Amino acid sequence: MDKIRKTRSGRLAKHGFGRDMSAHIRIAIRSDALCLGVLATQVFLDTYATSGIRAAIAAEVVASFSTQAMEACIGRHDGYIGVAEHAGHLLGFVQLAFGARHDLVASSAPAELERLYVQAPFTGQGIGAALLRHAEQAAATRGSADLWLTAWEHNRRALRFYVRHDYRDLGVTDIELQGERHRNRVLAKRLRG
Ligand SMILES: CC(C)(COP(=O)(O)OP(=O)(O)OC[C@H]1O[C@@H](n2cnc3c(N)ncnc32)[C@H](O)[C@@H]1OP(=O)(O)O)[C@@H](O)C(=O)NCCC(=O)NCCS
Repeated sequence: MDKIRKTRSGRLAKHGFGRDMSAHIRIAIRSDALCLGVLATQVFLDTYATSGIRAAIAAEVVASFSTQAMEACIGRHDGYIGVAEHAGHLLGFVQLAFGARHDLVASSAPAELERLYVQAPFTGQGIGAALLRHAEQAAATRGSADLWLTAWEHNRRALRFYVRHDYRDLGVTDIELQGERHRNRVLAKRLRG
């Protein structure tokens, strides 16, 4: 379990391994599904519904972030969800799919970082970095050699974030979302070898 320290100013510090730590990252359990779905909805809409709500966006939210859908994600044997929690509240989560492949990622043992979402009021405090480290450790523990992800080409904050964490840009790919195609960048990091 990774710990994130809450500093005197109330921020959640990046490398919190002191005694006053009060936030932590843990594996998701089935009863997290409701809160995870709502958190994912909020972050997804903040990030991608930049021109308002249209049918494709609404359909994606309803299909992907229902409690049942999140329960299915939590229960996957080839997946992993880690949540950042503070005082009984979820602040963010990271979701992995072990063995998922992409044509641009040459790896004997790849894993995909499917989602990394931090609730807006808690961004810029190191929670994303802590979740990413946690995900990399979880992937390595499961024998993954490379961790890859796709990020929307207009999501500059996320692209900068991953490059800062040593993810290499491998090129572009189109992601289909409820019948729409979106240009994404593919990034990857070698975990071992
Ligand atoms: C991308 C995302 C996961 C980053 O999470 P985060 O919690 O803000 O990440 P961090 O706090 O570790 O780092 C973000 C920035 O805050 C800075 N930061 C980190 N700890 C800090 C602290 N204690 N005090 C001040 N700034 C800090 C970092 O330098 C970093 O700067 P940068 O944006 O110039 O790279 C988050 O913005 C998010 O959820 N976005 C919406 C969803 C999304 O786009 N997900 C990724 C695509 S799947």
